[in-house]
Amino acid sequence: MIQLTNTIPETRSVIQELKSEGKKIGFVPTMGALHEGHLKLIRQAAHENDFVAVSIFVNPTQFNNPEDLANYPRTLETDMQKLEGSGCNLVFYPSVEEMYPEPDLTVFDFGQLDKVMEGRYRPGHFNGVAVVVKKLFEIVAPHKAYFGEKDFQQLAIIKKLVSMLQIDLEIVPCPIVREADGLAMSSRNARLTPEERAEATVIYKALTAVKENYSWFVPGGVRQLVMGEIQESPLFRVEYVDVVDSETLQPFEDWSDAEHAVVCVAAFIGKVRLIDNIILY
Ligand code: PAJ
Repeated sequence: MIQLTNTIPETRSVIQELKSEGKKIGFVPTMGALHEGHLKLIRQAAHENDFVAVSIFVNPTQFNNPEDLANYPRTLETDMQKLEGSGCNLVFYPSVEEMYPEPDLTVFDFGQLDKVMEGRYRPGHFNGVAVVVKKLFEIVAPHKAYFGEKDFQQLAIIKKLVSMLQIDLEIVPCPIVREADGLAMSSRNARLTPEERAEATVIYKALTAVKENYSWFVPGGVRQLVMGEIQESPLFRVEYVDVVDSETLQPFEDWSDAEHAVVCVAAFIGKVRLIDNIILY
């Protein structure tokens, strides 16, 4: 049986009890509408810890678009069914009032990390993510917390948050889980029309193509190539394609300038905004 908690004190007391018994706590924060990408994180957490807590909270402070917040799927019942057998022990499902009894006005300074890519197109988004993740870390106080590389920039921000605030836990990055045809799994994929769904694989095709032969080009050339391939499909409107240093998330001139590099994409297909990335090296 998976335990469901709605309040912060209940959740804290369950965790404190387990910790006093010396149990290792793994934590997977989510916004629900769970899919195989989330479940993979949870299975890994179960493998590496004695107890796994999952939070399901559609966090209003990270939505810069009210329509996106209103349309975000809320499916607690099916989420609970999917969690059966995943290794999850507790679901923390708070209300907005529970998490924000008063507005949280914290403003973080992530330097250049949140000035690029998602940060440029979704102002305030990462501050909202950091506010809620910091609160969740304080409530659950896990030994390890699991985040997907699907949201590559989010992962970098969370690592920075943990090091800046010296939070005592380990962040575990997990690889992107994809559909059989390569589309990165996302709660938003359910909103694609059949035609859009079929065409959505273009992003992964463009990314895997450059993974093979990126070194023939300069980083700027790779960027143009991926952009060109996606834009060949009339259904797509590319927001950005960037080739960036995996640590700093800043673009660079020459392959020798970055120890590790990743290509990140955000593009609209119809009304749905998709993000994806591929690690080059
Ligand atoms: P959400 O989009 O629900 O994602 C929860 C976690 O699942 C994130 O760490 C995300 O990177 C991971 N994830 C989603 N799709 C994935 C995929 N296809 N492969 C691997 N991992 C995947 O990200 C959030 O929620 C929120 O911003 C949150 C961190 C919960 C703060 O509100």
